[in-house]
Amino acid sequence: MKKITFGNPELFVPSKYCSGFCCEETEVAYPIHRITFRTNARGCVLEFPLGEEQIYGFGLQLNGFNQKNKELFLRVNADPTKNTGDSHAPVPFFVTTRGYGIYFDTARNMEVQCGVETALEKENVMTVQILNAKGIDIYIIEGTDITDIVAQYNRLSGSGCEVPEWGLGVLYRCNWHYPQDRVLETAAYFRNAKIPCSILGLEPGWHTHNYPCSYEWNKEMFPDPDGMVKKLKEMEFHLNLWEHAYISEDSPVYEAMKPYSGNYRVLGGLVADLASEEGADIISEYHKKTFTDIGIDGFKLDECDNTNIVDYGWRMFPNCSQFPSGLDGEQYHNLFGVLYMKTILKALDGKPTLSQVRSAGALCASYAFVLYSDLYEHKDFIRGIVNSGFSGILWSPELRHAKSKMELLRRLQTVVFSVQCLINGWYCDEVPWKQFNCESEVRALLQEREKQIPRLMKAFERYKETGIPPVRALVMDYTDDPETYEIDNEYLFGADLLVAPMTEEEEMRKVYLPAGEWVDYWTGEIVPPGWHEAQTDNIPVYQCKNTAKSPIT
Ligand code: GAL
Repeated sequence: MKKITFGNPELFVPSKYCSGFCCEETEVAYPIHRITFRTNARGCVLEFPLGEEQIYGFGLQLNGFNQKNKELFLRVNADPTKNTGDSHAPVPFFVTTRGYGIYFDTARNMEVQCGVETALEKENVMTVQILNAKGIDIYIIEGTDITDIVAQYNRLSGSGCEVPEWGLGVLYRCNWHYPQDRVLETAAYFRNAKIPCSILGLEPGWHTHNYPCSYEWNKEMFPDPDGMVKKLKEMEFHLNLWEHAYISEDSPVYEAMKPYSGNYRVLGGLVADLASEEGADIISEYHKKTFTDIGIDGFKLDECDNTNIVDYGWRMFPNCSQFPSGLDGEQYHNLFGVLYMKTILKALDGKPTLSQVRSAGALCASYAFVLYSDLYEHKDFIRGIVNSGFSGILWSPELRHAKSKMELLRRLQTVVFSVQCLINGWYCDEVPWKQFNCESEVRALLQEREKQIPRLMKAFERYKETGIPPVRALVMDYTDDPETYEIDNEYLFGADLLVAPMTEEEEMRKVYLPAGEWVDYWTGEIVPPGWHEAQTDNIPVYQCKNTAKSPIT
């Protein structure tokens, strides 16, 4: 890995906020002399020579996969519906099939052309325009395959996160309007019906005010939070609380946070400046004293992802905002999710968690948070699983409602074979399978999830030790196999499984098995490498019997 500085890099960059940041430099074979740099009125531009390489990454791209010849505008956005670069979690890092990847240490929005021809030399290049910055540090990372490159990128930020076993169990989020008794009834339902579940989540209704947030228990709905948490613990449940960082005037932290907030309101609340140490400390200390000390060990950090395409009738803080820490709105959008995770992890004070967040960015592999979305396209959710592994982030293809039993089961199959087994019933009156009479199928699938926990634990241990992500696109491990270049609907799960989820529209799907000894995970039958047609009500899963691969350098 080699760090190269161009121009005058900015002060507020992701590495500044990453406590585990650690760069061990070596010489690289990459032709550094062929990179060009210039500044212009819009910021600065870098140009990189391009050959035959395929290009992946740039964060949680739900609508695109191989980005070769694509044009992306990387910015945080809650409603990415096309492959434009908009994302809950844009990450200024890409990897290629030609043995290198490049990380750009910036909190700015970035315009990337992954293939454009120069006028005179007629060379194919990648252009990267970093808006509003007059310089940048880039990190060129080389490796034997994409998995190796990504593992090094993850180690740059302190490596992969540690998760508790229970964090990998089923997480059920209760209806927003459930009072305390109903939450306890839901807990009892799971135990009585013998349906695995290890975490319950509360949605906005637990606050006295939720848009903006008060972070105070609504005592009409939850008369005895301590007692409820205690009862849930006795039943072996963990509890996760929903919130966002727009602070209501009724909140106990409102006055203290006034000097540590941006200069525009969102949803009528203050926007907490979590880049200011003092501001972050107020929030984390309050959370520790009020929540984590009574036994809460998970949070869902919502709405930190710059909703500005769909008009919900409320606006986010603009890019021209100013924050007391010195950041402007554009930088804060790019760092918001990352700083929010960091603040809440401080409140947890070393307690293990696997929490949720709706925005992330560069250098956050070591944070035990999983991304989610308000969008709900099953195919895009599967692509999210496949893509997240390129960028040091984790993604959950959550199940909410379904129009048919088939859709419910297909979505649940995907959820079971993802890093966080999340059923989000925030607007469902009852558990979403009630209406389809398929409790036994749901039970069986969630029991299968329980069986996957040891495999996932091992995968997370490896993530922490080496930076190799638990879930990976085929092209990551099999970078030499061109057949994998466009496969955005199959992925490697842990060390030895290949998962090829089916959507509710599909009666049959094509599955590609790369070179290796494969068996059908469900039947144990040998399946030769190559393309196959899968036709099953179950989810196609294959197990690799020769997992000698160890791409650690
Ligand atoms: C959305 C979030 C949902 C749910 C809802 C509650 O922003 O994506 O999962 O929490 O808020 O208002």
